[in-house]
Amino acid sequence: MSNIGSFDERIKNFNWDIAEKELDFVPGNIINIGWYCSDRICRMGKAEKPALIWEGSTGIEKRYTYNDLRLNSNTIGHFLRELGIRPEDRVCLFMDKIPELYIGFLGILKMGGIAQPLFSAFGDESLFVRLDNAQTTAIITQKKHAPKVRKIMDKMPYLKHMIIVDADPGKPLGDREVAFDMEKAEKIDQFDIHPTYAESASVLHYTSGTTGQPKGVKHVHYSLISQYLTSKWVLDLQDSDIYWCTADPGWVTGTSYGIIGAFSNGVTQCVLDAGFSADNWYRFIEKHKITMWYSAPTAIRSLMKAGEDVIKKYDLSTLRHLASVGEPLNSEAVIWSEKVFGKPFLDTYWQTETGSIMITNFPGMKIKPGSMGKPFPGITATVIDAETFEPFGETGKIGLIAIKPGWPSMMRTYWNNESTYKNKFKNGWYLPGDRSSIDNEGYFWFVGRDDDVINTGGHLVSPFEVESALLEHPAVAESAVVAKPDFVNMEVVKAFVTLKPGFTASKDLDLDIMNFVRKKLSPLAMPQEIEFIDSLPKTRSGKIMRRILHAKEWGEAIGDTSTLENDD
Ligand code: PRX
Repeated sequence: MSNIGSFDERIKNFNWDIAEKELDFVPGNIINIGWYCSDRICRMGKAEKPALIWEGSTGIEKRYTYNDLRLNSNTIGHFLRELGIRPEDRVCLFMDKIPELYIGFLGILKMGGIAQPLFSAFGDESLFVRLDNAQTTAIITQKKHAPKVRKIMDKMPYLKHMIIVDADPGKPLGDREVAFDMEKAEKIDQFDIHPTYAESASVLHYTSGTTGQPKGVKHVHYSLISQYLTSKWVLDLQDSDIYWCTADPGWVTGTSYGIIGAFSNGVTQCVLDAGFSADNWYRFIEKHKITMWYSAPTAIRSLMKAGEDVIKKYDLSTLRHLASVGEPLNSEAVIWSEKVFGKPFLDTYWQTETGSIMITNFPGMKIKPGSMGKPFPGITATVIDAETFEPFGETGKIGLIAIKPGWPSMMRTYWNNESTYKNKFKNGWYLPGDRSSIDNEGYFWFVGRDDDVINTGGHLVSPFEVESALLEHPAVAESAVVAKPDFVNMEVVKAFVTLKPGFTASKDLDLDIMNFVRKKLSPLAMPQEIEFIDSLPKTRSGKIMRRILHAKEWGEAIGDTSTLENDD
């Protein structure tokens, strides 16, 4: 029996106080996600239950019970407080998927800090713009990532501490650097958790838009209400589950469901800190007897590509429920998963700003492969006309996804950017920036984004950020960055580049530019293809028309070119 039972029944008289009551939260009282994810589970009699089973790339395994989670997060919280870090200070987590990342997240929340997770593959430029925007006080990292921080340290006087979790004992550290060894640190049993309230800031996740620098999405401790309930009703987390969320906590899925949802429900979760290979993933499922698996379309398509023979080598019979997020889940992937695993991946739709699942397929619901499903109980979502911002009176029309604001895990603002935040609302609706249609049974069908942001393998990349990085390369005069279709990643980054006088296109220059972007930004943002051209299509006012280049890549009609400069 699934946790949600009947979707129709749940929709009737839905109120978020269902979650508040289950969590014994009384509005107006203290609510701290760190406490809910560790201390509370211990108090419920599960102190010795495995909370986190971690496996590194070399096969080494570490296990933490809920009591270990409690003690270690206390210890990290205490260490940060002793360093002088204050409530509401931003503390960045810049690590691979190691235990310190998961437990450090809870420790920051316990001492009242704002956790700012950043993807560890970010290069120094990507890191700098995000730390600078947040005016981050401390960064917790590994020695392998420390050089990227050192490179930009001088530009960040506000960054008081770089905490290295695996520093070599005895090796001198630089200015503002400090070592912290979670395993060896004296455990703090009694820790005064900072009294955070529903509206106290908890997490700052950075997300990319079409224009401007990345935006810091501010979440609050009350987000727990949504994350707890959606984990229970959509991911169907149950006490006996062994859960695997493949997302990295550098991105929102990895925190909302890879930390908060899982631990607040008191389930055992496994983490694999290793690169993708079909063999290794199936082995991991078999070894840990994974029952609930939350992944992403790109991973599923990569598994499809690896074929079915490799599946037969492993016993995957423990899997009872599968879900997916991050990009459109094509119907082929749903049908394939049903065939090879005996159950379909259920698509879930949401974004960094929404903090939790908005539109989704529920256990037990009729699945229409290719559809994102229906709004979660308590979520009023529809599709509106892009000009009038009014809902359509009929089904089947394509428009903007629109959600009535007010669910618990809704972002509270963009950090230092209230005007961009306000722009996300029109006519009383929150607009995630995606297009969809709704069929006559109320199922949503994703159409595409309503901006130029590239979704590569479930990760959003801003063309603006890539273009800015390209312009810093000595050979590049101008650039335009668009998405290019790709079977596995759905979209990859493609750059059109014009060269400065004295430079000629060559394979070496191509690679040099790619590497330049990879180092500065990240492997995700690195163009998979660079096309050198003589001039870029521009409007008469000189604005580069990405739309034209995008349409060419996707074999679509170019549309209105009446404002095109080099068209006359
Ligand atoms: O465009 C939508 C797409 O990913 C965007 C959100 O990206 P991000 O904030 O990085 O969060 C990703 C994980 C929650 C959305 O605006 N997206 C997300 N889920 C789906 C999706 N597109 C189609 N189908 C989905 N299920």
